[in-house]
Amino acid sequence: LSLTFSMTHSETDEVGGILLPKIVCDRWDQIWNFKARPDDLLIATYAKAGTTWIQEIVDMIQHDGDTEKCKRATTYLRHPFIEWVLPAPFSSDTNGLELAELMPSPRTLKTHLPVQLVPPSFWEQKCKIIYVARNAKDNLVSYYHFHRMNKNMPEPGTWEEFLEKFMAGQVLWGCWYDHVKGWWEAKENHRILYLFYEDLKEDPKREIQKVLQFLEKDLENEILDKIIYHTSFEIMKDNPMANYTFQPPAVMDHSISPFMRKGTVGDWKNHFTIAQNVKFDEDYRKKMARTSLTFRMEL
Ligand code: A3P
Repeated sequence: LSLTFSMTHSETDEVGGILLPKIVCDRWDQIWNFKARPDDLLIATYAKAGTTWIQEIVDMIQHDGDTEKCKRATTYLRHPFIEWVLPAPFSSDTNGLELAELMPSPRTLKTHLPVQLVPPSFWEQKCKIIYVARNAKDNLVSYYHFHRMNKNMPEPGTWEEFLEKFMAGQVLWGCWYDHVKGWWEAKENHRILYLFYEDLKEDPKREIQKVLQFLEKDLENEILDKIIYHTSFEIMKDNPMANYTFQPPAVMDHSISPFMRKGTVGDWKNHFTIAQNVKFDEDYRKKMARTSLTFRMEL
């Protein structure tokens, strides 16, 4: 089973020059024609930017801080990952597109697509979107370890090799630099709340209040504190409905690297050599020269 699985799913292809799992490309027409509903909330991120974290925060807000309700199902069942499809023999539970279609409104959906590949109905329906961005170096480190532990992903190669692929944008869901910049520009014309992983880490209360305001919700201070606690790294790491330990073992091997790995800002310093850092920074300055978007690499 795991052999068939990893052989079929780690294959890649492209849509509009963006590297995606082949199985996603094969169903691209269906994904592109996805029917968003006006009351859909879309959570968009580059992979490993803090998707699961913001998903838990949003779910807690939507359920007024009721932790039991938020444990009704795993993250991937609560918020369908719209472009995600797993091949047979996996159940329809792992088909994000179908899960989304079957889900009653109001729905909260997840995507890692770059802004130009988001199904047009999300713009037509003027859906609210929450985007979370994470500094390139920590995002890259997290993505590297995720490739090691997740059999859906292509082999990352060595750290050095993966670093080169990331800088070249030759990784799944495309170039990080274009992704964060594309969404940053899109927020000028659409209902997008653009958040940063580093801000969430620094002051979760302040950032959760931004989400509350965006979702037009008002919660008592006590509930807000409960949300902060329930969505902290330590608590989410132990929550089987949020830590991805319910994934079939053939998919994720948490003994190689747990999904809830470190949850910090600045872990890149434990990975980059001095030479890699110099090279990365130089390239970064060029790629991020013409944007007002800035990141904090440490707190
Ligand atoms: P690390 O690998 O750096 O630990 P995503 O959900 O987009 O796949 O992102 C996963 C990353 O977010 C992992 O980063 C994970 O540990 C981190 N993360 C998940 N929940 C978190 C939380 N509550 N607080 C801080 N980081 C969290």
